[in-house]
Amino acid sequence: MRVLTGIQPSGTLHIGNYFGAIRQMLDFQEKSDLFIFIANYHALTSLKDAEALRENTIDAAITYLSLGIDPQKSTLWVQSDVKEVLELYWILSAYTPMGLLERAHSYKDKVAKGISPNHALFSYPVLMAADILLYDAEVVPVGKDQIQHVEITRDIAQKFNNEKGDIFILPEFRVDQNVQSVPGTDGAKMSKSYGNTIDLFCTPKQLKKQIGKIVTESVPLEAPKEYANCNVYNLCKLFLDEEGQRALQERYTRGGEGHGHFKLYLAELIQKHFAEAMERRAYYLDHKEEVREILDEGAKKASAIAREKIAVIRDAVGIYR
Ligand code: ADP
Ligand code: TRP
Repeated sequence: MRVLTGIQPSGTLHIGNYFGAIRQMLDFQEKSDLFIFIANYHALTSLKDAEALRENTIDAAITYLSLGIDPQKSTLWVQSDVKEVLELYWILSAYTPMGLLERAHSYKDKVAKGISPNHALFSYPVLMAADILLYDAEVVPVGKDQIQHVEITRDIAQKFNNEKGDIFILPEFRVDQNVQSVPGTDGAKMSKSYGNTIDLFCTPKQLKKQIGKIVTESVPLEAPKEYANCNVYNLCKLFLDEEGQRALQERYTRGGEGHGHFKLYLAELIQKHFAEAMERRAYYLDHKEEVREILDEGAKKASAIAREKIAVIRDAVGIYR
């Protein structure tokens, strides 16, 4: 089964992203043919600083490699290294009714927030359709906010197929149903836009500072504490098996320890969980050439598929030669 997903190179990731999205990719890597690319053309809709975009692109690759994307098992590349995607974007545009794009929530939300829309933001779902259809992807793991984009992809593919025959596979989106929303330091959903994140790959000092911000109820040290609604407990839980969760529950109900102790424990759990990834990240940051080689290899594999597919599509629509 071919599974494909794109990653926005948007800088720092937090543990909400890890449990909400990255873990699902790592699972797919073990059981399917995973195609994963850094969506730098998409990022251009919002990021206009050239140096930052270049840096974020390689940094996203380093992050995913560090967290366990394995180039022996998966194909990892940068979107802009396979130009066929732009040709398909244009061809699909001719099969995309305006109304389909006008109904896109993510576009409407951005406009409602006061972002002055450019054409790339409007046609973003068409490029995403090209990303998916060019590689005959069957399954597309996404966050909830991206479901509609995969549905738009299906609509475009269907319209094309109706006119030109069975050329595209209709992809299915996959949202991990087991994932709950990871709470941030204030108890609301963790999100960069709320400034309530605990980031992956921060220094011990930064980690301590972010964990220090977690809001807890104030109870005397000796008193038993409630764990079920405690933000610290709920974050610890993500890293613990059932036995570990029970042991922590006991520490809460026994009393004698304050939330400061539980926060220290959370810091330990996070550091332990990401220790290996941190080491790999340090290695790749020192060996960017190696990262570029991995991305080149990935682009070669992706290009081979893209070239074959675009030939069929060009032929179907009558592009000269
Ligand atoms: P942010 O809200 O910080 O901007 P993104 O929208 O970039 O995060 O999310 C990227 C991916 O991470 C999406 O698949 C999203 O569903 C997942 N994700 C983000 N925040 C959380 C969270 N707090 N809990 C679970 N999953 C999350
Ligand atoms: N739009 C996706 C996001 O913001 C990224 C993306 C681009 C993507 N192309 C894709 C995801 C194709 C899945 C498939 O997260």
